[in-house]
Amino acid sequence: MITLESGTGNYTTIDHTSFNYFAGNNYLGLTNKPELINKAIAALISYGTNFAASRQTTGTADIHLGLEEQLAQFKGKEAAMVFASGYLGNKLIMEYLRDQYSVVLLDSMAHSSIIDGIPRAVETIDTYAHLDMNQLEELLKKYAGKRALIASDGLFALTGEITPLDEIHRLAEKYDALILVDDAHATGVLGENGRGTQEYYHLENSPRIFQSETMSKALGAYGGFVAGSEEMISAIRKKSAFYGASTSLPPALVATGAAALSYLAEHVDLKSKLVSNIRYVKIGMKQIGLETSDAETPICPVFCSSQAEAKRLSDFLMENQIIAPAVDYPVKTGKFIVRITVSAAHTAEQLSHLINTLKIWNDGRN
Ligand SMILES: Cc1ncc(COP(=O)(O)O)c(C=O)c1O
Repeated sequence: MITLESGTGNYTTIDHTSFNYFAGNNYLGLTNKPELINKAIAALISYGTNFAASRQTTGTADIHLGLEEQLAQFKGKEAAMVFASGYLGNKLIMEYLRDQYSVVLLDSMAHSSIIDGIPRAVETIDTYAHLDMNQLEELLKKYAGKRALIASDGLFALTGEITPLDEIHRLAEKYDALILVDDAHATGVLGENGRGTQEYYHLENSPRIFQSETMSKALGAYGGFVAGSEEMISAIRKKSAFYGASTSLPPALVATGAAALSYLAEHVDLKSKLVSNIRYVKIGMKQIGLETSDAETPICPVFCSSQAEAKRLSDFLMENQIIAPAVDYPVKTGKFIVRITVSAAHTAEQLSHLINTLKIWNDGRN
C-alpha cells in the first residue's frame, strides 16, 4: 500500500518524491483550492473541531442548514440533508422506501454500499448481469406482482461506465418499479450542471428515481447527501436511527462542502476543462491501442489481460512518476484494471506525460 506524505492534487508526495497523481476521485481538482481551504479554516476557528452531538439533539448548526439549502438549490429540489458518510446514503433511501417495494434488483457490479444498505427484512434480492437490460427485464417479468426497486451505480467507479438510466427508467415505467441510483462518482461530473446521472439523461423530474450522493469525490469535501421533496427529507430525518443517533458533520467539512458548491457556481468552465482532459486521455489511449471504456467520464481504466499485467503497468507508471493503482475492489468486475482518473486540474504537460508513458509501456509489451 502507498503511504502519502502530502495531500492529493495534481501531484502527491511518496517517499520524499513528487508524483503526478492520476488516482482517487478528485475529479474537479477541488481538494486543495484556497477558496475551500480558507472556508474550512474559518469554520474551525468559529465553531471548533466538532459539534459532538447528533443532528436531532444539539448538533444542528446554522452552517448545516445553510449547506442543505445550497445543496437543494444545486440539485433543483425542495430540500436536502447531509450526513457523515456517502456510504450510508443508499441505506437511508432504501429504508425510507421500505414499504413501497418487496424485491431488490441489482446490477451485478453494484457498489458494496448498495448491497450493505438493503434492509434486512427484504426477502428477495436478485442480480442482473452488468448493464444487461434484457436480463433486467427478465427479472422484472419473473417478479411481476411484487414491486421492484432497481439499484445501480450511476457512474461505475472502476470501469467509468454510465448506467443506462434511460433504459432502466423505461423498464421501471413499464413494470411500475422504483430506481435507486448511487451517484457518488457522478455528482459534479455528469449532466449540464453536474447534478449527476438523472440530469445526464434528462430524467430529473421522474418521481421513480432516488439518488444517493456524496461530497467526498468531485466536490472535494466529505459527507453524504440526499436531495428530494420536503416530505422525503423530513421522513428520512425522522426515520433513520443512523441520522438521529450519530454525530453531525463537523464544521470544517460542512464549510468545505458549501465552499465547493459556491466554487462550482462561479467556475462554470470547470466541467468543460474536465471534458477536454478526458477526451485527450481517452483518445490518446485508443490511439495507442489500449483497451478502455468509451464513456466520456473521468475514470479512464486500462483493461489488462491479467492481474500480473495490471500490476506491471501500475509499477511502470510509478517508475515514471505517475500514480495509478491496479485495483480489484470493492466490486468484482471480472477485469484487470489500472484505474487512471483525470481531473479538470491536470495540466497539458501532465496529460501528455501520461499518454507518452502509456505508449512506451504498450510498445514494450507488444
Ligand atoms: C459507488 C460508491 N458509492 C458510495 C461510496 C461511499 O462514499 P463516501 O466515500 O462518501 O462514503 C463510494 C466510495 O467511496 C462509491 O464508490
